[in-house]
Amino acid sequence: MRTHRLLLNGLGNVGRRFVQLLRERSELLEERHQVRVLLVGAADSSGAIYDPSGLDLDTLLRTKAAERGVGELPGAVPGQAITCLIDHHGADLVLEAAPTNLWNGQPGLDVALEALRRKIPVVMASKGPVVLAFPELAALSDWTDPSLPSLRFSGAVGGCLPAINLTHRVLTGCHIHRLEGVLNLSTGIYLTRMEEGLDLDAAIAEAQKAGLAEADPSLDVDGWDLAAKLCILANTVLRQPTRLEDIQRHGLRDLAQGEPRNARMRGERILMLARAELTENGYRLSVGPETLRPDHPFFPLQMGASGLLCDTDIQGRQVVLNADQGPMGTAAAMFRDMIEICEP
Ligand SMILES: NC(=O)c1ccc[n+]([C@@H]2O[C@H](COP(=O)([O-])OP(=O)(O)OC[C@H]3O[C@@H](n4cnc5c(N)ncnc54)[C@H](OP(=O)(O)O)[C@@H]3O)[C@@H](O)[C@H]2O)c1
Repeated sequence: MRTHRLLLNGLGNVGRRFVQLLRERSELLEERHQVRVLLVGAADSSGAIYDPSGLDLDTLLRTKAAERGVGELPGAVPGQAITCLIDHHGADLVLEAAPTNLWNGQPGLDVALEALRRKIPVVMASKGPVVLAFPELAALSDWTDPSLPSLRFSGAVGGCLPAINLTHRVLTGCHIHRLEGVLNLSTGIYLTRMEEGLDLDAAIAEAQKAGLAEADPSLDVDGWDLAAKLCILANTVLRQPTRLEDIQRHGLRDLAQGEPRNARMRGERILMLARAELTENGYRLSVGPETLRPDHPFFPLQMGASGLLCDTDIQGRQVVLNADQGPMGTAAAMFRDMIEICEP
């Protein structure tokens, strides 16, 4: 059985859980998928570490749990980026789980470009590179030519919700008339609490206290995160070249005071929705709060749940729902992308 040498960029909520999966599921990988992997290099904001015989996963996890950087480990190079490991040592697969930057795509964009130029497949959790540079990435990967290295990013759109897999694989041969998605965890949490009577600022403060919201909630509240996910779906599976600014965007601050609670009292619900509607001029793309009636498939979604709905010409309506969208779900999506790439 061939051993695939992995490099992992980013050891935060998602990256650490991915390392946990590597530690706990090596038997499953070998027995069920005939895949053997070895994490030979990893990097965080403090530096990079490389060992051709495989990093000690327990040491890595203990180091991060103690809020230390890999740059502090014996043999590591403080300040070194994963791109240096790609250049010096190569790899069989590069995994990218560093923070998302929607304005310049870094650091993930350079990581993905460097790997793909060296014919190394890439799995990404971060959205920025696909939002900003999909045509460039596609030209270097199997999105344009099956003989080029694979590029997968199923975790970037809704964690483990099979959003990309549904639209890209299952709906093969279909025309998608309409796509709707609930793909942002934080706004689902805020809206559920606002239905119960809290105002937006109180809902945000409560979620921050419980560690469920970003220190800067504006990316979620103002619809940027959801627009980024719709941008990825539009560029990749709807095949409509799209920039973030092409998407009509509204956020929770556009709601009138008490609107989620009033909707609930009328027997309706307000959820943050990503929407693509096919028109004569292509897809009309929008994100924002929308009022749903009880017969809508997303009506029962609870805090933190996600969903994607596609109306198609020959497969009718396909809907996927997922009840758990935390960082383990995203790590699991990276894990399934890795298996798909490495499976013989
Ligand atoms: N969390 C989720 O549920 C979720 C869901 C879908 C997609 N995503 C995406 O997945 C990615 C990771 O999310 P996360 O929640 O794990 O983020 P996170 O907890 O903030 O972790 C980010 C990691 O990247 C490292 N890092 C920061 N700058 C770096 C750089 N220049 N080079 C290398 N590493 C760098 C950080 O280093 P330090 O450890 O030294 O700080 C940290 O280990 C993000 O792009 C996010 O948008 C996350």
